[in-house]
This record gives sequence, structure tokens and C-alpha cells, in this order.
Amino acid sequence: MRNLKSCINIDDLARLAAKKVPAPVYDYVEGGADDEVTLIRNSQGFQSYQIVPKALQDVSTIQTRTRILGCQTALPFYISATGFSGMMCPKDAELAGARAASRFGIPYTASTFSNRSLEQISNCAASDKFFQVYVLDDENLALDLNLRAKQAGYKAMVLTIDTIVGGNRERDARSGLTIPPSLTLKSTLQYMLRPKWLMQYLLSDGASMGNFPHLPKVSLGDSQAFVEAMSKLFKKDLTWNDARRMINEWQGPFAIKGIMSASDALKAKEAGASAVILSNHGGRQLDGTPAPIELVEEVRAAVGPEMEIIVDGGIRRGTDVFKALALGANACSLGRAYVRGLSAGGEAGVIHALNLLKTEFERCMILAGCSSVDQIGPEHIRKVC
Ligand SMILES: Cc1cc2nc3c(=O)[nH]c(=O)nc-3n(C[C@H](O)[C@H](O)[C@H](O)COP(=O)(O)O)c2cc1C
Repeated sequence: MRNLKSCINIDDLARLAAKKVPAPVYDYVEGGADDEVTLIRNSQGFQSYQIVPKALQDVSTIQTRTRILGCQTALPFYISATGFSGMMCPKDAELAGARAASRFGIPYTASTFSNRSLEQISNCAASDKFFQVYVLDDENLALDLNLRAKQAGYKAMVLTIDTIVGGNRERDARSGLTIPPSLTLKSTLQYMLRPKWLMQYLLSDGASMGNFPHLPKVSLGDSQAFVEAMSKLFKKDLTWNDARRMINEWQGPFAIKGIMSASDALKAKEAGASAVILSNHGGRQLDGTPAPIELVEEVRAAVGPEMEIIVDGGIRRGTDVFKALALGANACSLGRAYVRGLSAGGEAGVIHALNLLKTEFERCMILAGCSSVDQIGPEHIRKVC
């Protein structure tokens, strides 16, 4: 892969990304926890389902619009929260993804751990945005984020619940990656092999923590103080009471991200969440869980037709999105599928990734005989025995 033009699918973008960012950053994005069984399963899970096309339908025009978390979206997928985007794109960090999402009329999710502040992200592009939050120990800090997100115009809150401690990401241990990147003995050579990236990183204040200006500033030589300060932010004893409290405080569309069973989806519904995001954090946290796509049918059966179900994990093709919708999901959110574009080419790379998925999804709809998103249903899917 030489440039974005030569990338004709999302896997090609990963190959180009490998040439653009230092190996530790590439592995940080692509890697998963432990033996990466869940990471692999997330994508493979889609192969357990086959698309059943409906013959001779009028698909002369197709309509891909739908609603996600109270927002109109041009496509039934959007950008998921991915922190530290300044590592993948030092120049623009999160602004690249937010601007690209806006061009496609789809929502962008800003992570708590963005390098740019939630206000900067909100101001950089017009389309709807969601704010992803972790449960923070410091109640004042949590309330402050909540207020800031409301004031900055975020339309929905996404509470991530699967990250009480970090996953065991062995690729990072091997590469010597620290977050944010620092020049360790192991990683220095890798960073020097990508001089353009290194120059941009050094010039861009890529290590800044947009939403927590009080955290210690990090130099490339030492990130330890920063890591310690960050780990203190998380609340370790969170329960459904915290989720309920946060839903009440937000008073708007609210999704719980990291639900991995029908029983927890029901609890989320009872707690007042508008949506569940079936997610195992892209296989980066607990290894050995099912693939989110494998849970959609049972979760839909449990929560009924009204509650929104969003699927993330392993989505690399427009046909993956189609399968998720046919199984009962309302939408999908994109992690690595868009981050690969971000690493490969910044904003232009994200636009390229979204364009590939849009084209694939539209082609899939036509070939499957669906002229609108709400026509996609169980009759279009069968499980491979
Ligand atoms: C580089 C990277 C950073 C991420 N950062 C966050 C984050 O800050 N908050 C969060 O809720 N999820 C985060 N995630 C998880 C994604 O939101 C999403 O659940 C996951 O990537 C979906 O799997 P996929 O990458 O296979 O599509 C991150 C994922 C990646 C790859």
C-alpha cells in the first residue's frame, strides 16, 4: 500500500497505517488483551452469519438514514470513542475524526481521554456528537465533565463500564509503549524510524490531556507521573447505582457501553438507559468473551423492540453493518475501522475509511434487496450451522 488511493478496503488501510505510524503505536491500535482470542473472534463472529438476499425488489433508490441516540444520521454507523488520537494523528488528533464524521452526516463520539478538549472537538465540526465518559472517583470532576458536555452541545452520553482496570495488552509491554508515548529504551528506535510522525508529535503537544488540564504535563522522557494520576481518576467500586445516578444527572439520551449479556442489557433498561452498546472494547479488555455480534439476537429478545442496541467490535465491512442490523441492532459504532484511516492519513484517511464502508453498505443493501434501513430484518440473515 503506497497511499490512500491504493487502499480499497479497511484491511488495506491497516497496511498503510503500519508504514505511517511507529510500530508501538500501530500495535497499540491493532492489539488486544492476553492471547487476542476475543479480538480475533470479534471479526470472525460475522462469518457465523450469512446474508439472505430478497429477490426482485425495487432498489432503484436506497435510503440509509436512521436515528441513533436521538440524532438523525445519514448512515447506520458512527464513530466510537477512541482516546489518545494524538498518537495516531499528532497534527489534528480527535479533530480529524470529528470533521470527517461531519462530512458524512454521522455522529462522532469524543472520549474522556481525548488529547483535545471536548469543547475543541465540539466546535470543530457541525454534526452531532456524543460524549463518552468513564465513572470517575472524584464526583466534582464527574459533574464538571457532565456540565461541560451539556454546555458544549453533546447530544448523548456514553458510559463505558468495561475499563475499571486496563486490559493486559502484551503487544504494548513488548514494544515498550507508554501512554502517552515516551522515548523508552525499547521504543526510541521505532519512533526514529517514523521521522515525519515524530516531528509532528513533538511539535503538536500530542501528549496533552484535553479534558484534564490539571494533570501533570508529560515530557517524552517520563510518563510515569501522568499514568499514576490517570489511574487515580477511575472509580473502582462502581455499581448500577452509579449508572442510575449518571443517567439522572445527564437527562438526555444515554448509552451504556460494554454490555455483554441479555441480563445486563435488561438492567441497563431498568436503570433508564436509552441504549446499550454491545462491546468488549474491541477485545482490548477481558479476553475470552463472546463477539458482540453473537449477542444481538438474545439481547433484542430480552429488551424488546424499543430499546436501542448498538454493536461494536470487529466491524470492517459494510456487510458487517448489514448483518448487525438484520439481527436486530439499530446501529454499529466503528473503532479500528476508522482509526486505521486516521493513522494512515489523518482526516483524509478517516474520510477514505468512511467512504469505503458507505459504498460497501449501500452495495450490500442493493444486492440484498433493501431500499431502506428499516427494511433490513431477520428474513435477511441466517446462522451458519
Ligand atoms: C486505539 C483505541 C482507543 C480506544 N479508546 C477508547 C476510549 O477512550 N473509550 C472507550 O469507551 N472505548 C475506547 N476504545 C474502544 C472502542 O470505542 C470500540 O469499543 C472498539 O474499538 C470496537 O472494536 P473494533 O476496534 O474492533 O471496531 C478504543 C479502541 C481503540 C482501538
